[in-house]
Amino acid sequence: MFETLQAQPADKILALVQMYREDPREMKIDLGVGVYKDATGLTPVMRAVKTAERQLWETQDSKVYTGLAGDPAFGDALVDLVLGDAVSRDTVAAAATPGGTGAVRQAFEMIQMARPDARVFVSDPTWPNHLSILNYLGMEIVPYRYFDAETRGVDFNGLIEDLKTARAGDVVLFHGCCHNPTGANLNPTEWDAVIDVLLQTGATPMIDIAYQGFGDGLDEDAAATRKLAAAVPECLIAASCSKNFGIYRERTGILMAVSADTLATGLNQSTLAFLNRQNFSFPPDHGARVVTMILKDDALRADWQAELEEVRTGMLGLRTQLAGELQRLSGSDRFGFLAQHRGMFSRLGTTPELVEKLRKDHAIYMVGDSRMNIAGLNPQTVPVLAQAIIDAGI
Ligand code: LMR
Repeated sequence: MFETLQAQPADKILALVQMYREDPREMKIDLGVGVYKDATGLTPVMRAVKTAERQLWETQDSKVYTGLAGDPAFGDALVDLVLGDAVSRDTVAAAATPGGTGAVRQAFEMIQMARPDARVFVSDPTWPNHLSILNYLGMEIVPYRYFDAETRGVDFNGLIEDLKTARAGDVVLFHGCCHNPTGANLNPTEWDAVIDVLLQTGATPMIDIAYQGFGDGLDEDAAATRKLAAAVPECLIAASCSKNFGIYRERTGILMAVSADTLATGLNQSTLAFLNRQNFSFPPDHGARVVTMILKDDALRADWQAELEEVRTGMLGLRTQLAGELQRLSGSDRFGFLAQHRGMFSRLGTTPELVEKLRKDHAIYMVGDSRMNIAGLNPQTVPVLAQAIIDAGI
């Protein structure tokens, strides 16, 4: 029977990982997949994670199932981390998921259950897997303008114009911070205008927040999500712990559904549990438990925040260095956007052909749309990249 299957297109980001591994050149630079790397190229286990894992190993005496929504303490800890006191806890339904992608998938399914004909508005561009999952589920995608190819910032007027065409029963997907793949983000005033449009149209926002703590700080990066959740009657939030806790392979994420009243919270909570049961039954627990231990222990939390801050400021330093180097080499400010962007990624804004040239001639790997993972750099490779960008004529 399986001969009827059709070959699926490879995920472009993951295909790049393989190509990089197979490249024998010694001076290669990997700016592909969104994984944090330190100056030595390693993706370390964070100190607080190691400590919590050690404690867990010593104290855990059972691995019996948790609940379908995961350990409620994880839900509480993540709702607090993402939403702070923006909304009342009893209006938030929450369920642990296998990573942020799991949360995104469950969110789309929940939307589809509630409104089979919902259209999902997505930024143009967005994380390719958003589109892939939506297509897989057969949901209607409506791109909204987002990236200004000229300034490499947000095309705010285009975005507002496009969002005005959404209506009640539609969903608008946002990146809470650190937009992937562009690195260009809305400022607080622009978010206010977006909220006004959502309130006018009645469309429901969904926020994917996968990089909290990688942009301007933990609270700063959650500010837009909090503001949105407090302002609109309902929203969905898919959050990931992969990056800010560095626990990629543990698959630790959460889906939150914020509603206007506690009656709806009950219905949302049971829907989230149902969806988990249909797709994988119980969500993974190890990463979620480690995260909960860290967030609930003052010393562990302080250590985690300190290390996360080192990661964040390290990436900001690389951005500044790269923008400075390119300014020096090009004699112009046209790469200044690199220092304005936030998070792991920046879209350089060049053609797939020149991206290919960088790979062939300089062993520099970035996604075909010219998304660079800034964390793939270190102070020694920044000048190499800058020179290659200029040499390629970008
Ligand atoms: C990325 O965008 O590179 C990361 O989110 C990893 C992934 O799964 O694509």
